[in-house]
Amino acid sequence: MTMTLSLRIKTLCGSCHLMQLRKKSSVLKPQKQICKSVLEHFDEVYSKELGESWTRAREVMLSPSSWQYAVMLNRFSFSEGLEAYFQNQGLSDIFHDVQVPSSGWLKCYVSRIAHRYPAQRHQQGRLKDYYLLNAASLLPVLALEVEGGNHVLDMCAAPGGKSLAILQYAMPGNLVCNEPDCLRRKRLKEMLESFLPELCRSAVTLSNLDGREFGQLHPEVYDKVLVDAPCSNDRSWLFTSDIPQARHWIASRKELPVLQVELIRSGIAALRPGGILVYSTCTLSQSENSNVVDQILQSDCGVELQNLDKMAHAFSDIFTFSANTQYGLLVLPDRERAWGPMYVARFKKRYPP
Ligand SMILES: C[S@@+](CC[C@H](N)C(=O)[O-])C[C@H]1O[C@@H](n2cnc3c(N)ncnc32)[C@H](O)[C@@H]1O
Repeated sequence: MTMTLSLRIKTLCGSCHLMQLRKKSSVLKPQKQICKSVLEHFDEVYSKELGESWTRAREVMLSPSSWQYAVMLNRFSFSEGLEAYFQNQGLSDIFHDVQVPSSGWLKCYVSRIAHRYPAQRHQQGRLKDYYLLNAASLLPVLALEVEGGNHVLDMCAAPGGKSLAILQYAMPGNLVCNEPDCLRRKRLKEMLESFLPELCRSAVTLSNLDGREFGQLHPEVYDKVLVDAPCSNDRSWLFTSDIPQARHWIASRKELPVLQVELIRSGIAALRPGGILVYSTCTLSQSENSNVVDQILQSDCGVELQNLDKMAHAFSDIFTFSANTQYGLLVLPDRERAWGPMYVARFKKRYPP
């Protein structure tokens, strides 16, 4: 059961800005149940792969009340009053030092304490002011370093948080948001419509391909490709109440790296020489993260892996990065830094000799 609350926020110009905020009552919300078979499986795999780090990540992941949510402001409906409101609430903009292209903007407010602002409801004729997300999911977008006018492919785009962040960060010449799943693509379309003004929508194309087809159908077209791949969704798997589904996920988990490698290969083929591909997942799994990157590097796909140490250093106060990841960066959920899991690796396509 949900309750609707209305909140009045005074804007700096003195007028009242009425936001309809939908808030799920914490009293009425059913307690999330941990799925035992998923937890046992994770304990077995992740204690070997992550050692002591798994104990800390486990504690956070099993405690939804400690999860943090970031508020990404929508530059297309920016209100100084709303920004002042979040600042007055003690939230800070974690990306205020990040240099974005002149065509873009990125404001992402986080609170030190675990608190979830309500998601905004759709209102006819009105753009939404903010999007709630796991702050670590902006790292793949930052790693992509989109520049104004770039041709960008978001190969696995729904529900669209990263597509939206790309459009905040810069104004690409064209952004292709691809999603083969019909229902998820519908959600993606609705999300983009509720955040983007008409004018800006012409820069966005929705497509429904299997990502593995891009390389063959559109070779060497894109400046930037994001492969935010289908992966084990560790946080949500832990709380599924569908036991047969959980068993199926665990059993078929070993097939994911095959698909992930194929998606990256296709993305590389769709990239122009000198272009950047970012691979990301929201799992702690080594087989879906650094082992996938290793397969790409071993199979000589014409790319070099790029170092992300500068990014890790810049955000070391906000995120806990694993010290034991062979390639790329892995954000580990940690106490009072309950962001992630999020894995990011960046490749650059070589010019032909
Ligand atoms: C991790 S989610 C993407 C999340 C999204 N990037 C965001 O930030 O909101 C992975 C998506 O890949 C889609 N997918 C699954 N198989 C795919 C394929 N073969 N090609 C492209 N996308 C695929 C899934 O339907 C899912 O929506």
